[in-house]
Amino acid sequence: MLPKVNPTETSAWKDLTEHHSKMKALQIKDLFTEDPKRFETMSLVFKDLLFDYSKNRITDETMNLLFELAEECHLNTAIEAMFSGEKINETEDRAVLHTALRNFSGKPVSTDGKDVMPEVEEVRQRMKAFCEKVHSGKWKGYTGKTIRHIVNIGIGGSDLGPVMVTEALRPYWKQGIEAHFVSNIDGTQISETLKQLNPEETLFLIASKTFTTQETMTNAHTAREWFLKSAKAEKYVAKHFVALSTNEEDVMAFGIARDNMFGFWDWVGGRYSLWSSIGLSIALTIGYDNFEQLLKGAEASDVHFRTTPFKENIPVIMGLIGLWYTDFFGAQTEAILPYDQYMHRFSAYFQQGNMESNGKHVDRNGHPVSYPTGPIVWGEPGTNGQHAFYQLIHQGTPLIPCDFIAPAISHNPIGKHHPILLSNFFAQTEALMNGKDAEEVAEELQSMDEQEREKLVPFKEFEGNRPTNSFLLKEITPFSLGALIALYEHKIFTQGILWNIFSFDQWGVELGKQLAKKVLPELDGDKKIDSHDSSTNGLINQYKEWRK
Ligand code: F6P
Repeated sequence: MLPKVNPTETSAWKDLTEHHSKMKALQIKDLFTEDPKRFETMSLVFKDLLFDYSKNRITDETMNLLFELAEECHLNTAIEAMFSGEKINETEDRAVLHTALRNFSGKPVSTDGKDVMPEVEEVRQRMKAFCEKVHSGKWKGYTGKTIRHIVNIGIGGSDLGPVMVTEALRPYWKQGIEAHFVSNIDGTQISETLKQLNPEETLFLIASKTFTTQETMTNAHTAREWFLKSAKAEKYVAKHFVALSTNEEDVMAFGIARDNMFGFWDWVGGRYSLWSSIGLSIALTIGYDNFEQLLKGAEASDVHFRTTPFKENIPVIMGLIGLWYTDFFGAQTEAILPYDQYMHRFSAYFQQGNMESNGKHVDRNGHPVSYPTGPIVWGEPGTNGQHAFYQLIHQGTPLIPCDFIAPAISHNPIGKHHPILLSNFFAQTEALMNGKDAEEVAEELQSMDEQEREKLVPFKEFEGNRPTNSFLLKEITPFSLGALIALYEHKIFTQGILWNIFSFDQWGVELGKQLAKKVLPELDGDKKIDSHDSSTNGLINQYKEWRK
Protein backbone atom coordinates (compact mmCIF):
# COMPACT_ATOMS: atom_id res chain seq x y z
CA MET A 1 0.00 0.00 0.00
CA LEU A 2 1.23 3.47 -0.80
CA PRO A 3 1.31 6.18 1.85
CA LYS A 4 -1.68 8.50 1.54
CA VAL A 5 -0.44 11.85 2.78
CA ASN A 6 -2.10 15.06 1.71
CA PRO A 7 1.02 17.09 0.82
CA THR A 8 -0.61 20.38 1.74
CA GLU A 9 -1.01 19.17 5.31
CA THR A 10 2.71 18.59 5.84
CA SER A 11 4.81 21.11 7.68
CA ALA A 12 7.20 21.28 4.71
CA TRP A 13 4.34 22.49 2.48
CA LYS A 14 3.53 25.26 4.93
CA ASP A 15 7.19 26.26 5.07
CA LEU A 16 7.42 26.12 1.28
CA THR A 17 4.41 28.43 0.99
CA GLU A 18 6.12 30.97 3.21
CA HIS A 19 9.45 30.44 1.50
CA HIS A 20 7.81 31.00 -1.90
CA SER A 21 6.70 34.49 -0.92
CA LYS A 22 10.38 35.35 -0.37
CA MET A 23 11.51 33.60 -3.54
CA LYS A 24 9.02 35.23 -5.91
CA ALA A 25 11.14 38.30 -6.51
CA LEU A 26 14.50 36.55 -6.51
CA GLN A 27 16.45 36.51 -9.78
CA ILE A 28 18.28 33.33 -10.78
CA LYS A 29 21.12 35.35 -12.26
CA ASP A 30 21.70 37.06 -8.88
CA LEU A 31 22.03 33.66 -7.25
CA PHE A 32 24.90 32.93 -9.64
CA THR A 33 26.58 36.21 -8.77
CA GLU A 34 26.26 35.50 -5.07
CA ASP A 35 27.50 31.94 -5.30
CA PRO A 36 30.27 31.19 -7.79
CA LYS A 37 29.99 27.51 -6.89
CA ARG A 38 26.29 27.29 -7.74
CA PHE A 39 26.84 25.09 -10.79
CA GLU A 40 29.01 22.68 -8.81
CA THR A 41 26.47 22.32 -6.03
CA MET A 42 23.46 22.16 -8.33
CA SER A 43 24.61 19.72 -10.98
CA LEU A 44 25.14 15.98 -10.95
CA VAL A 45 27.02 13.59 -13.18
CA PHE A 46 25.50 10.17 -13.61
CA LYS A 47 27.11 7.73 -16.04
CA ASP A 48 27.74 9.82 -19.17
CA LEU A 49 25.02 12.32 -18.37
CA LEU A 50 25.38 15.75 -16.78
CA PHE A 51 22.24 17.06 -15.11
CA ASP A 52 22.40 20.80 -14.40
CA TYR A 53 19.53 22.18 -12.35
CA SER A 54 21.26 25.36 -11.25
CA LYS A 55 19.25 27.67 -13.54
CA ASN A 56 16.12 27.31 -11.43
CA ARG A 57 14.34 29.61 -9.01
CA ILE A 58 15.68 27.68 -6.07
CA THR A 59 18.16 28.05 -3.23
CA ASP A 60 19.59 25.45 -0.86
CA GLU A 61 16.72 26.28 1.45
CA THR A 62 14.18 25.56 -1.28
CA MET A 63 15.75 22.21 -1.99
CA ASN A 64 15.97 21.29 1.69
CA LEU A 65 12.29 22.08 2.17
CA LEU A 66 11.41 20.05 -0.90
CA PHE A 67 13.45 17.13 0.42
CA GLU A 68 11.57 17.45 3.70
CA LEU A 69 8.32 17.33 1.76
CA ALA A 70 9.47 14.12 0.10
CA GLU A 71 10.29 12.67 3.52
CA GLU A 72 6.95 13.69 4.98
CA CYS A 73 5.16 12.11 2.02
CA HIS A 74 7.16 8.90 2.60
CA LEU A 75 8.68 8.84 -0.86
CA ASN A 76 11.27 6.26 0.24
CA THR A 77 8.58 3.85 1.40
CA ALA A 78 6.77 4.31 -1.90
CA ILE A 79 9.93 3.66 -3.96
CA GLU A 80 10.54 0.44 -2.05
CA ALA A 81 6.89 -0.55 -2.46
CA MET A 82 7.17 -0.20 -6.24
CA PHE A 83 10.47 -2.06 -6.61
CA SER A 84 9.43 -4.85 -4.31
CA GLY A 85 6.27 -5.72 -6.22
CA GLU A 86 3.58 -4.37 -3.90
CA LYS A 87 0.26 -3.73 -5.61
CA ILE A 88 0.69 0.01 -5.68
CA ASN A 89 -1.67 0.39 -8.66
CA GLU A 90 -4.56 0.01 -6.25
CA THR A 91 -7.44 0.97 -8.53
CA GLU A 92 -6.48 -1.86 -10.87
CA ASP A 93 -5.14 -4.11 -8.09
CA ARG A 94 -1.79 -4.52 -9.83
CA ALA A 95 1.90 -4.29 -9.03
CA VAL A 96 4.04 -1.84 -11.00
CA LEU A 97 7.13 -3.71 -12.07
CA HIS A 98 8.44 -2.35 -15.36
CA THR A 99 11.72 -2.14 -13.41
CA ALA A 100 11.81 -5.97 -13.32
CA LEU A 101 11.97 -5.98 -17.13
CA ARG A 102 15.39 -4.33 -16.93
CA ASN A 103 16.66 -6.20 -13.89
CA PHE A 104 19.90 -8.00 -14.72
CA SER A 105 21.07 -8.25 -11.11
CA GLY A 106 20.24 -11.92 -10.87
CA LYS A 107 18.11 -11.10 -7.83
CA PRO A 108 14.46 -12.22 -7.70
CA VAL A 109 11.59 -9.76 -7.97
CA SER A 110 8.37 -11.08 -6.51
CA THR A 111 4.77 -10.12 -6.62
CA ASP A 112 1.88 -12.20 -5.29
CA GLY A 113 4.51 -14.47 -3.77
CA LYS A 114 5.98 -15.37 -7.16
CA ASP A 115 9.36 -14.45 -8.62
CA VAL A 116 8.63 -12.84 -12.00
CA MET A 117 12.23 -13.01 -13.23
CA PRO A 118 12.19 -16.54 -14.75
CA GLU A 119 9.29 -15.53 -17.05
CA VAL A 120 10.91 -12.17 -17.85
CA GLU A 121 14.12 -13.97 -18.74
CA GLU A 122 12.28 -16.54 -20.85
CA VAL A 123 10.57 -13.85 -22.94
CA ARG A 124 13.87 -11.99 -23.34
CA GLN A 125 15.50 -15.19 -24.62
CA ARG A 126 12.65 -15.81 -27.05
CA MET A 127 12.89 -12.24 -28.31
CA LYS A 128 16.62 -12.64 -28.76
CA ALA A 129 16.25 -15.93 -30.67
CA PHE A 130 13.52 -14.42 -32.82
CA CYS A 131 15.64 -11.38 -33.69
CA GLU A 132 18.53 -13.64 -34.62
CA LYS A 133 16.32 -15.68 -36.92
CA VAL A 134 15.00 -12.59 -38.67
CA HIS A 135 18.40 -10.92 -38.98
CA SER A 136 20.21 -14.03 -40.16
CA GLY A 137 17.54 -14.59 -42.80
CA LYS A 138 16.51 -17.94 -41.30
CA TRP A 139 13.01 -16.59 -40.77
CA LYS A 140 11.49 -16.58 -44.22
CA GLY A 141 8.28 -15.14 -45.58
CA TYR A 142 5.73 -17.27 -47.43
CA THR A 143 7.62 -17.13 -50.72
CA GLY A 144 11.00 -17.83 -49.13
CA LYS A 145 12.15 -14.21 -49.01
CA THR A 146 13.79 -12.69 -45.93
CA ILE A 147 12.06 -10.01 -43.87
CA ARG A 148 12.92 -6.42 -44.72
CA HIS A 149 9.99 -4.50 -43.25
CA ILE A 150 8.83 -4.51 -39.65
CA VAL A 151 5.41 -2.92 -39.08
CA ASN A 152 4.44 -2.28 -35.48
CA ILE A 153 0.67 -1.87 -35.18
CA GLY A 154 -0.23 -0.42 -31.78
CA ILE A 155 -1.32 2.80 -30.15
CA GLY A 156 -0.51 4.83 -27.02
CA GLY A 157 2.08 3.00 -24.97
CA SER A 158 2.17 0.22 -27.55
CA ASP A 159 3.36 2.71 -30.15
CA LEU A 160 4.92 5.84 -28.67
CA GLY A 161 7.79 4.08 -26.89
CA PRO A 162 8.81 1.90 -29.86
CA VAL A 163 8.56 4.87 -32.26
CA MET A 164 10.47 7.22 -29.98
CA VAL A 165 13.29 4.76 -29.28
CA THR A 166 13.72 3.46 -32.83
CA GLU A 167 13.82 7.04 -34.09
CA ALA A 168 16.25 8.15 -31.36
CA LEU A 169 18.51 5.23 -32.20
CA ARG A 170 18.35 5.40 -35.99
CA PRO A 171 22.16 5.28 -36.27
CA TYR A 172 21.93 1.76 -34.81
CA TRP A 173 19.40 0.42 -37.34
CA LYS A 174 20.27 -3.00 -38.76
CA GLN A 175 21.14 -2.85 -42.38
CA GLY A 176 18.34 -4.14 -44.58
CA ILE A 177 15.57 -3.58 -41.99
CA GLU A 178 13.05 -0.77 -42.25
CA ALA A 179 10.71 -0.06 -39.34
CA HIS A 180 7.19 1.30 -39.81
CA PHE A 181 4.59 2.26 -37.25
CA VAL A 182 0.84 2.36 -37.61
CA SER A 183 -1.21 3.69 -34.72
CA ASN A 184 -4.02 5.94 -35.92
CA ILE A 185 -7.46 4.54 -36.76
CA ASP A 186 -7.45 7.04 -39.62
CA GLY A 187 -7.18 4.73 -42.65
CA THR A 188 -4.66 7.12 -44.14
CA GLN A 189 -1.80 5.88 -41.99
CA ILE A 190 -2.17 2.20 -42.77
CA SER A 191 -2.91 2.89 -46.45
CA GLU A 192 0.20 5.02 -46.84
CA THR A 193 2.29 2.46 -44.99
CA LEU A 194 1.04 -0.54 -46.97
CA LYS A 195 1.84 1.28 -50.23
CA GLN A 196 5.53 1.05 -49.35
CA LEU A 197 5.50 -2.66 -48.56
CA ASN A 198 5.87 -5.99 -50.26
CA PRO A 199 3.81 -8.59 -48.33
CA GLU A 200 6.43 -11.26 -49.02
CA GLU A 201 9.03 -9.33 -47.01
CA THR A 202 6.86 -7.79 -44.29
CA LEU A 203 6.43 -8.80 -40.68
CA PHE A 204 3.54 -7.28 -38.73
CA LEU A 205 3.84 -6.96 -34.97
CA ILE A 206 0.42 -6.53 -33.40
CA ALA A 207 1.30 -4.69 -30.21
CA SER A 208 -1.52 -4.44 -27.72
CA LYS A 209 -1.47 -5.21 -24.04
CA THR A 210 -5.20 -5.89 -24.02
CA PHE A 211 -5.54 -7.03 -27.66
CA THR A 212 -8.94 -5.34 -27.67
CA THR A 213 -8.00 -1.73 -28.50
CA GLN A 214 -10.29 -0.65 -31.33
CA GLU A 215 -7.66 1.23 -33.34
CA THR A 216 -5.09 -1.54 -33.15
CA MET A 217 -7.47 -4.39 -33.89
CA THR A 218 -9.00 -2.55 -36.84
CA ASN A 219 -5.57 -1.81 -38.29
CA ALA A 220 -4.46 -5.39 -37.61
CA HIS A 221 -7.44 -6.81 -39.51
CA THR A 222 -6.82 -4.44 -42.41
CA ALA A 223 -3.18 -5.54 -42.53
CA ARG A 224 -4.23 -9.19 -42.45
CA GLU A 225 -6.71 -8.73 -45.30
CA TRP A 226 -4.07 -6.89 -47.34
CA PHE A 227 -1.58 -9.67 -46.69
CA LEU A 228 -4.03 -12.45 -47.56
CA LYS A 229 -4.88 -10.80 -50.86
CA SER A 230 -1.36 -11.74 -51.94
CA ALA A 231 -0.60 -14.79 -49.85
CA LYS A 232 -4.04 -16.35 -50.44
CA ALA A 233 -3.69 -19.00 -47.70
CA GLU A 234 -4.37 -18.52 -43.96
CA LYS A 235 -1.49 -20.84 -43.09
CA TYR A 236 0.96 -18.10 -44.17
CA VAL A 237 -0.28 -15.68 -41.51
CA ALA A 238 2.05 -17.46 -39.07
CA LYS A 239 5.09 -16.32 -41.04
CA HIS A 240 4.07 -12.69 -41.15
CA PHE A 241 2.12 -11.87 -37.98
CA VAL A 242 3.38 -11.78 -34.43
CA ALA A 243 1.52 -10.64 -31.31
CA LEU A 244 2.92 -8.68 -28.37
CA SER A 245 0.27 -8.96 -25.72
CA THR A 246 -0.92 -10.17 -22.34
CA ASN A 247 -4.16 -11.60 -23.80
CA GLU A 248 -3.42 -15.08 -25.11
CA GLU A 249 -7.04 -15.97 -25.79
CA ASP A 250 -7.73 -13.06 -28.13
CA VAL A 251 -4.35 -13.46 -29.82
CA MET A 252 -5.30 -17.06 -30.69
CA ALA A 253 -8.74 -15.95 -31.86
CA PHE A 254 -7.05 -13.51 -34.25
CA GLY A 255 -5.22 -16.47 -35.77
CA ILE A 256 -1.74 -15.88 -34.39
CA ALA A 257 -0.05 -19.06 -33.20
CA ARG A 258 1.09 -19.35 -29.57
CA ASP A 259 4.69 -19.64 -30.80
CA ASN A 260 4.33 -16.24 -32.43
CA MET A 261 3.12 -14.53 -29.30
CA PHE A 262 5.50 -12.69 -27.02
CA GLY A 263 3.78 -12.15 -23.72
CA PHE A 264 4.06 -9.72 -20.90
CA TRP A 265 2.15 -9.19 -17.69
CA ASP A 266 -0.54 -7.05 -16.11
CA TRP A 267 2.11 -5.42 -13.88
CA VAL A 268 3.55 -3.63 -16.92
CA GLY A 269 1.65 -0.40 -17.59
CA GLY A 270 1.08 0.43 -21.27
CA ARG A 271 3.13 3.64 -21.12
CA TYR A 272 5.94 1.78 -19.32
CA SER A 273 5.95 -1.20 -21.69
CA LEU A 274 8.70 -0.46 -24.21
CA TRP A 275 10.99 -2.55 -21.97
CA SER A 276 8.78 -5.63 -22.42
CA SER A 277 7.97 -7.60 -25.56
CA ILE A 278 6.29 -4.39 -26.76
CA GLY A 279 9.91 -3.43 -27.51
CA LEU A 280 10.26 -6.21 -30.08
CA SER A 281 10.08 -3.67 -32.93
CA ILE A 282 13.01 -1.88 -31.27
CA ALA A 283 15.02 -5.10 -30.90
CA LEU A 284 14.31 -6.09 -34.51
CA THR A 285 15.33 -2.67 -35.76
CA ILE A 286 18.49 -2.00 -33.73
CA GLY A 287 19.41 -5.59 -32.88
CA TYR A 288 18.80 -7.49 -29.67
CA ASP A 289 22.17 -6.60 -28.12
CA ASN A 290 21.44 -2.90 -28.47
CA PHE A 291 17.97 -3.46 -27.03
CA GLU A 292 19.63 -5.09 -24.04
CA GLN A 293 21.92 -2.07 -23.67
CA LEU A 294 18.81 0.11 -23.57
CA LEU A 295 17.45 -2.05 -20.75
CA LYS A 296 20.79 -1.88 -18.94
CA GLY A 297 20.84 1.91 -19.14
CA ALA A 298 17.40 1.95 -17.56
CA GLU A 299 18.56 -0.52 -14.92
CA ALA A 300 21.39 1.87 -13.99
CA SER A 301 18.82 4.62 -13.42
CA ASP A 302 16.66 2.24 -11.39
CA VAL A 303 19.57 1.50 -9.07
CA HIS A 304 20.34 5.22 -8.84
CA PHE A 305 16.72 6.08 -8.01
CA ARG A 306 16.34 3.31 -5.45
CA THR A 307 19.63 3.75 -3.62
CA THR A 308 20.78 7.37 -3.90
CA PRO A 309 20.00 9.83 -1.10
CA PHE A 310 17.44 12.41 -2.22
CA LYS A 311 20.04 15.19 -2.30
CA GLU A 312 21.86 13.48 -5.15
CA ASN A 313 18.96 11.62 -6.67
CA ILE A 314 18.31 12.99 -10.17
CA PRO A 315 14.69 11.87 -10.67
CA VAL A 316 13.78 12.99 -7.16
CA ILE A 317 15.30 16.43 -7.81
CA MET A 318 13.58 16.63 -11.22
CA GLY A 319 10.25 15.75 -9.63
CA LEU A 320 10.61 18.16 -6.74
CA ILE A 321 11.62 21.11 -8.91
CA GLY A 322 8.69 20.42 -11.24
CA LEU A 323 6.31 20.32 -8.27
CA TRP A 324 7.78 23.58 -6.94
CA TYR A 325 6.72 25.35 -10.15
CA THR A 326 3.37 23.57 -10.55
CA ASP A 327 2.16 24.06 -7.01
CA PHE A 328 3.85 27.21 -5.81
CA PHE A 329 4.38 29.30 -8.96
CA GLY A 330 1.19 28.10 -10.68
CA ALA A 331 3.03 26.86 -13.77
CA GLN A 332 0.61 24.74 -15.76
CA THR A 333 2.98 23.39 -18.33
CA GLU A 334 6.50 22.09 -18.93
CA ALA A 335 8.44 21.82 -22.17
CA ILE A 336 10.91 19.09 -23.09
CA LEU A 337 13.29 20.35 -25.75
CA PRO A 338 15.77 17.86 -27.19
CA TYR A 339 18.59 19.34 -29.25
CA ASP A 340 18.89 16.16 -31.26
CA GLN A 341 16.85 15.49 -34.37
CA TYR A 342 16.77 11.73 -33.70
CA MET A 343 14.99 12.47 -30.40
CA HIS A 344 12.11 14.18 -32.19
CA ARG A 345 9.46 11.98 -30.54
CA PHE A 346 10.88 12.21 -27.02
CA SER A 347 8.50 14.95 -25.88
CA ALA A 348 5.51 13.18 -27.44
CA TYR A 349 6.50 10.03 -25.59
CA PHE A 350 6.66 11.82 -22.25
CA GLN A 351 3.48 13.69 -23.02
CA GLN A 352 1.74 10.35 -22.56
CA GLY A 353 4.11 9.32 -19.78
CA ASN A 354 3.32 12.42 -17.74
CA MET A 355 -0.19 13.30 -18.71
CA GLU A 356 -1.70 9.81 -18.61
CA SER A 357 0.11 9.08 -15.34
CA ASN A 358 -0.40 12.29 -13.41
CA GLY A 359 -3.40 13.86 -15.12
CA LYS A 360 -5.54 13.08 -12.07
CA HIS A 361 -7.68 15.19 -9.77
CA VAL A 362 -8.64 12.57 -7.19
CA ASP A 363 -6.18 11.71 -4.44
CA ARG A 364 -5.31 8.28 -3.11
CA ASN A 365 -8.00 8.65 -0.46
CA GLY A 366 -10.61 9.13 -3.17
CA HIS A 367 -11.05 12.86 -2.53
CA PRO A 368 -10.66 15.72 -5.02
CA VAL A 369 -7.28 17.37 -4.63
CA SER A 370 -7.07 21.02 -3.60
CA TYR A 371 -3.78 21.66 -5.42
CA PRO A 372 -2.61 21.37 -9.04
CA THR A 373 -1.19 18.02 -10.20
CA GLY A 374 0.25 16.92 -13.56
CA PRO A 375 1.36 19.67 -15.93
CA ILE A 376 0.76 19.86 -19.68
CA VAL A 377 3.88 18.42 -21.29
CA TRP A 378 4.96 19.20 -24.83
CA GLY A 379 7.97 20.08 -26.93
CA GLU A 380 9.79 19.85 -30.22
CA PRO A 381 13.42 19.47 -31.10
CA GLY A 382 15.66 22.53 -31.01
CA THR A 383 16.33 24.60 -33.01
CA ASN A 384 12.99 24.17 -34.82
CA GLY A 385 11.18 25.10 -31.64
CA GLN A 386 13.21 28.31 -31.39
CA HIS A 387 11.71 29.48 -34.68
CA ALA A 388 8.21 28.49 -33.66
CA PHE A 389 7.16 28.82 -30.02
CA TYR A 390 10.16 30.05 -28.01
CA GLN A 391 8.81 33.58 -28.38
CA LEU A 392 6.20 32.71 -25.79
CA ILE A 393 8.72 31.01 -23.52
CA HIS A 394 10.92 34.13 -23.60
CA GLN A 395 8.36 36.92 -23.57
CA GLY A 396 4.92 35.41 -23.01
CA THR A 397 2.85 35.57 -19.82
CA PRO A 398 2.93 31.93 -18.64
CA LEU A 399 5.88 30.53 -16.74
CA ILE A 400 7.14 27.51 -18.69
CA PRO A 401 9.91 25.54 -17.00
CA CYS A 402 11.91 23.81 -19.73
CA ASP A 403 14.17 20.78 -19.96
CA PHE A 404 16.95 21.15 -22.51
CA ILE A 405 18.58 17.91 -23.68
CA ALA A 406 21.60 17.56 -25.98
CA PRO A 407 24.37 15.12 -26.86
CA ALA A 408 27.97 16.40 -26.85
CA ILE A 409 28.85 14.03 -29.68
CA SER A 410 26.73 13.91 -32.80
CA HIS A 411 26.13 10.82 -34.90
CA ASN A 412 26.42 13.11 -37.91
CA PRO A 413 29.40 15.38 -37.33
CA ILE A 414 29.25 17.22 -40.63
CA GLY A 415 30.74 20.65 -40.97
CA LYS A 416 29.83 23.09 -38.20
CA HIS A 417 26.31 21.70 -37.72
CA HIS A 418 26.80 20.28 -34.27
CA PRO A 419 28.71 23.22 -32.73
CA ILE A 420 26.04 25.54 -34.13
CA LEU A 421 23.28 23.36 -32.70
CA LEU A 422 24.99 23.19 -29.31
CA SER A 423 25.73 26.91 -29.27
CA ASN A 424 21.97 27.37 -29.41
CA PHE A 425 21.44 24.78 -26.68
CA PHE A 426 23.86 26.65 -24.37
CA ALA A 427 22.66 30.12 -25.36
CA GLN A 428 18.97 29.50 -24.84
CA THR A 429 19.13 28.56 -21.16
CA GLU A 430 21.43 31.52 -20.52
CA ALA A 431 19.11 33.89 -22.38
CA LEU A 432 16.05 32.56 -20.58
CA MET A 433 17.74 33.16 -17.26
CA ASN A 434 19.43 36.51 -17.90
CA GLY A 435 16.87 38.18 -20.11
CA LYS A 436 17.71 41.67 -21.32
CA ASP A 437 16.79 44.80 -19.37
CA ALA A 438 15.75 48.24 -20.69
CA GLU A 439 19.24 49.64 -20.30
CA GLU A 440 20.81 46.91 -22.40
CA VAL A 441 18.16 47.32 -25.07
CA ALA A 442 18.66 51.08 -25.15
CA GLU A 443 22.39 50.54 -25.47
CA GLU A 444 21.84 48.27 -28.46
CA LEU A 445 19.59 50.85 -30.11
CA GLN A 446 21.93 53.74 -29.57
CA SER A 447 22.10 54.70 -33.20
CA MET A 448 18.34 55.21 -33.25
CA ASP A 449 16.45 58.44 -32.78
CA GLU A 450 15.74 58.85 -29.04
CA GLN A 451 11.97 59.04 -29.31
CA GLU A 452 11.81 56.00 -31.57
CA ARG A 453 14.13 54.16 -29.25
CA GLU A 454 11.99 54.77 -26.20
CA LYS A 455 8.95 53.46 -28.02
CA LEU A 456 10.70 50.27 -28.99
CA VAL A 457 12.48 49.42 -25.74
CA PRO A 458 9.57 47.72 -23.89
CA PHE A 459 8.99 45.35 -26.80
CA LYS A 460 12.62 44.32 -26.95
CA GLU A 461 13.03 43.75 -23.23
CA PHE A 462 13.26 40.23 -21.81
CA GLU A 463 12.32 39.74 -18.16
CA GLY A 464 14.50 36.64 -17.87
CA ASN A 465 14.31 34.54 -14.70
CA ARG A 466 12.78 31.72 -16.77
CA PRO A 467 13.85 28.39 -15.30
CA THR A 468 15.50 25.49 -17.11
CA ASN A 469 17.15 22.15 -16.49
CA SER A 470 19.92 21.00 -18.83
CA PHE A 471 20.80 17.42 -19.63
CA LEU A 472 24.07 17.13 -21.50
CA LEU A 473 24.72 13.56 -22.60
CA LYS A 474 28.06 12.44 -23.94
CA GLU A 475 26.29 10.72 -26.84
CA ILE A 476 22.88 9.24 -27.55
CA THR A 477 23.51 5.51 -27.31
CA PRO A 478 21.12 2.69 -26.42
CA PHE A 479 22.54 2.74 -22.88
CA SER A 480 22.34 6.50 -22.34
CA LEU A 481 18.88 6.72 -23.87
CA GLY A 482 17.64 3.90 -21.64
CA ALA A 483 19.08 5.71 -18.62
CA LEU A 484 17.49 9.02 -19.59
CA ILE A 485 14.04 7.52 -20.20
CA ALA A 486 14.08 5.79 -16.84
CA LEU A 487 15.08 9.02 -15.07
CA TYR A 488 12.01 10.71 -16.53
CA GLU A 489 9.82 7.75 -15.57
CA HIS A 490 10.99 8.03 -11.98
CA LYS A 491 10.42 11.77 -11.99
CA ILE A 492 6.78 11.05 -12.86
CA PHE A 493 6.63 8.47 -10.06
CA THR A 494 8.11 10.92 -7.55
CA GLN A 495 5.55 13.57 -8.41
CA GLY A 496 2.63 11.13 -8.32
CA ILE A 497 3.64 10.05 -4.83
CA LEU A 498 3.93 13.61 -3.57
CA TRP A 499 0.65 14.64 -5.18
CA ASN A 500 -0.97 11.66 -3.45
CA ILE A 501 -2.49 10.40 -6.70
CA PHE A 502 -2.42 7.02 -8.44
CA SER A 503 -0.02 7.32 -11.39
CA PHE A 504 -0.52 3.90 -12.95
CA ASP A 505 -4.17 3.82 -13.95
CA GLN A 506 -5.81 5.80 -16.77
CA TRP A 507 -9.56 5.77 -16.23
CA GLY A 508 -9.77 9.15 -17.91
CA VAL A 509 -9.43 7.63 -21.37
CA GLU A 510 -12.50 5.43 -20.95
CA LEU A 511 -15.42 7.84 -21.29
CA GLY A 512 -14.58 8.99 -24.82
CA LYS A 513 -14.03 5.37 -25.90
CA GLN A 514 -17.43 4.32 -24.53
CA LEU A 515 -19.23 7.16 -26.26
CA ALA A 516 -17.49 6.47 -29.59
CA LYS A 517 -18.85 2.91 -29.40
CA LYS A 518 -22.36 4.32 -28.96
CA VAL A 519 -21.93 6.78 -31.84
CA LEU A 520 -20.45 4.32 -34.36
CA PRO A 521 -23.71 2.47 -35.24
CA GLU A 522 -25.53 5.82 -35.45
CA LEU A 523 -23.31 6.77 -38.38
CA ASP A 524 -24.89 4.06 -40.57
CA GLY A 525 -27.87 4.84 -42.78
CA ASP A 526 -29.65 8.12 -43.43
CA LYS A 527 -31.73 8.40 -40.26
CA LYS A 528 -31.39 11.73 -38.48
CA ILE A 529 -29.89 11.43 -35.02
CA ASP A 530 -31.49 13.08 -31.98
CA SER A 531 -30.10 11.07 -29.09
CA HIS A 532 -27.41 13.60 -28.06
CA ASP A 533 -27.16 17.27 -27.22
CA SER A 534 -27.94 19.60 -30.13
CA SER A 535 -24.28 20.22 -30.94
CA THR A 536 -23.36 16.53 -31.20
CA ASN A 537 -26.59 15.78 -33.11
CA GLY A 538 -25.88 18.70 -35.46
CA LEU A 539 -22.35 17.54 -36.20
CA ILE A 540 -23.36 13.93 -36.80
CA ASN A 541 -26.28 14.91 -39.01
CA GLN A 542 -24.14 17.23 -41.14
CA TYR A 543 -21.60 14.42 -41.53
CA LYS A 544 -24.37 12.08 -42.68
CA GLU A 545 -25.75 14.69 -45.04
CA TRP A 546 -22.39 15.25 -46.73
CA ARG A 547 -21.75 11.54 -47.08
CA LYS A 548 -25.02 10.82 -48.89
O1 F6P B 1 -5.08 5.22 -24.15
C1 F6P B 1 -5.27 4.30 -23.14
C2 F6P B 1 -4.38 3.11 -23.23
O2 F6P B 1 -4.85 2.14 -22.37
C3 F6P B 1 -2.92 3.41 -22.95
O3 F6P B 1 -2.63 3.44 -21.61
C4 F6P B 1 -2.25 2.31 -23.67
O4 F6P B 1 -0.92 2.59 -23.82
C5 F6P B 1 -3.04 2.28 -24.95
O5 F6P B 1 -4.36 2.56 -24.55
C6 F6P B 1 -2.97 1.02 -25.75
O6 F6P B 1 -3.50 -0.09 -25.08
P1 F6P B 1 -3.23 -1.55 -25.57
O7 F6P B 1 -1.77 -1.81 -25.50
O8 F6P B 1 -4.00 -2.44 -24.64
O9 F6P B 1 -3.72 -1.68 -26.99
